[in-house]
Amino acid sequence: MLDINKRKFLFCCCSLPIYFSTSYLLSDNENFDYLVKGPLAGSIYYTKKKPGRWKNLLTSHIPIMQIKSNFLEITTPHEMRGFEHFIHKHIVLDKSFNIISEKIFDPSKDRAYSKHDISGYSNSLFVMSICNLHDTWLEPVKIS
Ligand SMILES: [Fe+2]
Repeated sequence: MLDINKRKFLFCCCSLPIYFSTSYLLSDNENFDYLVKGPLAGSIYYTKKKPGRWKNLLTSHIPIMQIKSNFLEITTPHEMRGFEHFIHKHIVLDKSFNIISEKIFDPSKDRAYSKHDISGYSNSLFVMSICNLHDTWLEPVKIS
């Protein structure tokens, strides 16, 4: 029997691909707005604008991005308390929600930092940061 946190985590991981697989019906701007402000934000996953039930945990779960040359650096300012409470993964998606890159963390030795090659991409990217207790957080990043 899965505990409630594991069920929520699995639900979130299973729901996002369903949305992403049907998102071709929307324009890029509609996709952007829908993901950041739509009904799934704040309930299935969380964003800066819609942190939902985790609003008091926003600053420790929203990924911080920095672009240096052709690389996107992501930091989630979150504790890595072994396997009790940690950031499981960072995922970078292009504007059509194809996975560009991902980094799975080992909470026994890693901090929640990842570096991704974004050569050849323009416009918007999306970053997901996944906490083992506080679900999936999504944040867009504009690149030129
Ligand atoms: Fe957390």
